[in-house]
Amino acid sequence: MQMRTVLLTGFVSAALSLLVLVVTVNGRLLGDNSGYKPVQPIDYSHRVHAGDNKMDCQFCHLGAEKGRHAAIPPVSTCLKCHEQIKNKPNTKEPSAEIAKLHRAVKDGKPVEWVRIHRLPSFVFFNHSRHVNSGVACQSCHGEVQAMDTVEQAKAHTMGECLACHREQNQKAIASGKRPAAPTDCSACHY
Ligand code: HEC
Ligand code: HEC
Ligand code: HEC
Ligand code: HEC
Ligand code: HEC
Repeated sequence: MQMRTVLLTGFVSAALSLLVLVVTVNGRLLGDNSGYKPVQPIDYSHRVHAGDNKMDCQFCHLGAEKGRHAAIPPVSTCLKCHEQIKNKPNTKEPSAEIAKLHRAVKDGKPVEWVRIHRLPSFVFFNHSRHVNSGVACQSCHGEVQAMDTVEQAKAHTMGECLACHREQNQKAIASGKRPAAPTDCSACHY
């Protein structure tokens, strides 16, 4: 009896440390994981919306100029159009993918999109200062408007952040402006 308890405790703690290990390894990978392209719960295409239909990125990601997160739009944003558009393109057949949006509303559940870009928690990053100073979404996320499924196009390593900051500062100095992109450790880590 006692032996079993000991074995069980040993097994549980081993399983827990394995879990911690997996989580940390994943955390690191997600920070600089170019090429990461998870399958999403709805087959939503940026090429169709932001490409073919030329929708502005911030129609959906309106957090980008306001604060830290660009944020993923709620279903209500999608329904501005998909209350009407319910069929597969150029058919009279209902789209099973669009039907998932209506089901989400009915069930009162948000769509569980899989997060792609994520910096380690010890890094400070804020969208708004970048977006408001005219850095294009594409310089950090690649040509999203051409992607059917979003993938992480750039590594988002410290080296990449600093390379752009140095380049931007050199340009600023060359045109007689004050360099604004920080390279000191405490700007991105505290
Ligand atoms: C009609 C709404 C809509 C528009 C317009 C739109 N997006 Fe998105 N975006 C989404 C949704 C929904 C997701 C989550 C599903 C996915 O990853 O495809 C997403 C995901 C993303 C992600 C990945 C987020 C993560 O998990 O890390 C990036 C980056 C992104 N969008 C950038 C852009 C850019 C850049 C544009 C403009 C060229 C744009 N989006 C236009 C709805 C939109
Ligand atoms: C200077 C680089 C940079 C620019 C410019 C940029 N992003 Fe991001 N984006 C990132 C990084 C880094 C992350 C991961 C942030 C984190 O983990 O906190 C991210 C995350 C995201 C996400 C995931 C959810 C979130 O908000 O954290 C979306 C969606 C997104 N970006 C969309 C956009 C859109 C749309 C634009 C343009 C309007 C844009 N980004 C401009 C670097 C950038
Ligand atoms: C401004 C209008 C608009 C908004 C907002 C919008 N869509 Fe769309 N969506 C369209 C158009 C237009 C099409 C292409 C339909 C066609 O060609 O018949 C489309 C097509 C689609 C399709 C493809 C359906 C199929 O079976 O091929 C999916 C899935 C989809 N949208 C999901 C979404 C999601 C998820 C959101 C919110 C994040 C969203 N849409 C927001 C206009 C919009
Ligand atoms: C494509 C160029 C580019 C990339 C890549 C880039 N930045 Fe920046 N960053 C800028 C510019 C330009 C500014 C100055 C903005 C201004 O005018 O205030 C800036 C400013 C900042 C600031 C100070 C303003 C604030 O928000 O507090 C921080 C912090 C920062 N960046 C973090 C990062 C991190 C972390 C990354 C990498 C994940 C990164 N940046 C990648 C161009 C870039
Ligand atoms: C412009 C933003 C920025 C600045 C400035 C910056 N870092 Fe980083 N740092 C990052 C990002 C983003 C990561 C996470 C991605 C990675 O590991 O490359 C990171 C990761 C790290 C790590 C973890 C490395 C690893 O491989 O796990 C250390 C340690 C670190 N930074 C130290 C520093 C020190 C020391 C300075 C000053 C000399 C500094 N950083 C300046 C953005 C920055």
